[in-house]
Amino acid sequence: MILLDGKKTSADLKQEIAESVKQLKAQGKKTPHLAAILVGTDGASMTYVSSKVKACELVGFNSTLIELPEETSEEKLLQEIEKLNNNSDIDGFIVQLPLPKHIDEQKVLMAVNPDKDVDGFHPVNVGKMALDLPCFLPATPFGILELLERYNVETSGKHVVVIGRSHIVGRPMSILMSQKRKAGNATVTIAHSRTKNLKEITLQADIIVAALGIPEFLTGDMVKDGVTIIDVGITRVEDATKKRGYRLAGDVHFESVSPKSSYITPVPGGVGPMTIAMLLKNTLLACERKN
Ligand code: GUN
Repeated sequence: MILLDGKKTSADLKQEIAESVKQLKAQGKKTPHLAAILVGTDGASMTYVSSKVKACELVGFNSTLIELPEETSEEKLLQEIEKLNNNSDIDGFIVQLPLPKHIDEQKVLMAVNPDKDVDGFHPVNVGKMALDLPCFLPATPFGILELLERYNVETSGKHVVVIGRSHIVGRPMSILMSQKRKAGNATVTIAHSRTKNLKEITLQADIIVAALGIPEFLTGDMVKDGVTIIDVGITRVEDATKKRGYRLAGDVHFESVSPKSSYITPVPGGVGPMTIAMLLKNTLLACERKN
């Protein structure tokens, strides 16, 4: 069993990005600048956004964090987005999800200029992705492809089962891995909450991407020997033995699944750090496009 070490791989990637930033600066070119909008005080979202800002500092990017209160109106949020769209120093920006219930997420994501949409969530980027055209790939799927590539995990002709059909992970993952590309050319099955006989399907999988958001859902009896496991889940589970009162659990029951796996991502330290690295990569690409 080989651990797909997202922490190490993302550190390598960040070093490569930092090197590119140094070169841009040495050539007198613009420093990449990422902005993030956070609405409200959801604990997990605050942690993710602060990790994104810290990662910017590490690679030499400029960053701007816009924190808005929970009760912010949709109109006010759309105004903030318009300001970032019109600010030529900002190369890319993200609106951290989930948004409070009174705000229409789709409307917000559609307001982001697709050229600055480093999350790859705008319909223009999703459409381009589906058509194999150059675009910003959503950071989590992009990070998974990068991890599979860097560990030389064979995907061509393999049966990939993606569990979960979210717009952020499952759906794009299923599209990308079926395409003619590195870490692609797979036969993909997408499973979800209405799928019948899931275990019969996962037992046939060469690669499983678990992205359904249910802690420790995928157990050892559901996978075949030699499987590759990508665990996208990261749920806070109450744990009184921990100082902070919770532990982070993936969608995979690591103890029973890992002995049967060829490759497996740990939680934490697998997919999560890759997501941040690929957001930086997209921001670098956005900046280089301008240069
Ligand atoms: N919430 C969970 N994952 C993500 C992500 O990749 N981008 C944004 N903006 N919000 C998220």
